[in-house]
Amino acid sequence: MSQSIPELMQRELDRFAESHPRSRELRDAAEETLLSGVPMNWMTRWPGTHPVVFARAEGNTLVDVDGNTYVDFCLGDTGAMSGHSPAPTVAAAERRLRHGITTMLPSEDAGPVGEEMSRRFGLRHWQFSLSATDANRFALRLCREITGRPKVLVFNHCYHGSVDETVATIADGHPAPRLGSVGPPVPIAETTRVVEFNDLAALEAELAHGDVACVLTEPALTNIGIVLPDPGFHDALRELTRAAGSLLIIDETHTLCCGPGGYTAEHGLEPDLLTIGKAIAGGIPTGAYGMTDAVAERVLEKTVWEAADVGGVGGTLAGNALSLAAARATLDEVLTAEAFARMVALGERFAGGVGEVIAAHGLDWQATRLGCRVEYMFARQAPRSGGEAAAAFDTGLDALLHLYMLNRGILMTPFHMMALMCPTTTEADVDAHTAALAEIAAELP
Ligand SMILES: Cc1ncc(COP(=O)(O)O)c(C=O)c1O
Repeated sequence: MSQSIPELMQRELDRFAESHPRSRELRDAAEETLLSGVPMNWMTRWPGTHPVVFARAEGNTLVDVDGNTYVDFCLGDTGAMSGHSPAPTVAAAERRLRHGITTMLPSEDAGPVGEEMSRRFGLRHWQFSLSATDANRFALRLCREITGRPKVLVFNHCYHGSVDETVATIADGHPAPRLGSVGPPVPIAETTRVVEFNDLAALEAELAHGDVACVLTEPALTNIGIVLPDPGFHDALRELTRAAGSLLIIDETHTLCCGPGGYTAEHGLEPDLLTIGKAIAGGIPTGAYGMTDAVAERVLEKTVWEAADVGGVGGTLAGNALSLAAARATLDEVLTAEAFARMVALGERFAGGVGEVIAAHGLDWQATRLGCRVEYMFARQAPRSGGEAAAAFDTGLDALLHLYMLNRGILMTPFHMMALMCPTTTEADVDAHTAALAEIAAELP
């Protein structure tokens, strides 16, 4: 007789508790000094009775403090797209660690990293930050400064990090703070316009107000499941932003999964600015933002040099020598075109496996692939907007699937069923996921 979702969940929670006693001890001890027992509060959101404490991770293999081994498809939510601790990055970082980490001066790696970013993404002028969040924050400020306009337009259910202006959704057709928005500095409607992804009419209407400094978007949404752009969406977005005098920032932090130059290079996009972070230094903190010649010229015209360190775009450790050494090695030797070719093929295999399980068990689900990233969602039709994708969420089922996978040595990205391939992922790893999914599909009520 089949078990209900709560019954299956209880069985999996018991199994989890039995196989993770040391993680529990460490979490309990940490509760003395860490808020909620974790260094970042979202770490409590993993399914299970407590977070898994990891001991080591190499390539796409992660081992926890109880000795459980996992095939890692989460890969630090893209921070480890290079695989954990890739040898060239580690070697470059080790060399750098011995010879000065941060100095307030440029290092020899800075220029070559800028060159490689230009070659990959097609924008010529680069700056560095310590995170993708900061890259977005700085890009937004620059857009407001050079256009003299106050607002940013984002798409519903976007995620661009903890950037105040982007923690927004739509309620009754108006911008509203997202659920859980912590202490917003001003009402979100003062800084932000929000429309649904792929809704060109709404986009045009909002841009017509003439107060939008820039549109900030991922080329495909990846943080509410994957929502792909409709055919022609990007051409229209570009035309409409140009016509309205609004700049276009493309955030490639996750969509780097499409290839060495991200979605932008794969699909010939022409953003005014491009932001990225997470993976480009193999997991060592780095963000980057690039801009066209035209934007750079306007930025330089507006720069107040005697206050360049205190004007709201900054960071003492930004552009530090360690980050740039790691970025140079990761870009030149790890996240190469050859690596992406293999990773994307594995993404195809992963999506194919999920599709077979969906068909075999008659599930009302679908899988969407974006390069070497795959997401499966609990709706028959691929969503066309963040709102549609959010409506397809089933938190109970999502938690069960994550825990079921985790108990069988497979780590999926938390909060949604997303998997990412890295240079060391193998076909056998992908097939192990397919087998685990088939196992749970057979058990679902
Ligand atoms: C598209 C996108 N941009 C920016 C960020 C922010 O990255 P970070 O938290 O590393 O600053 C994220 C984080 O998930 C993201 O998905």
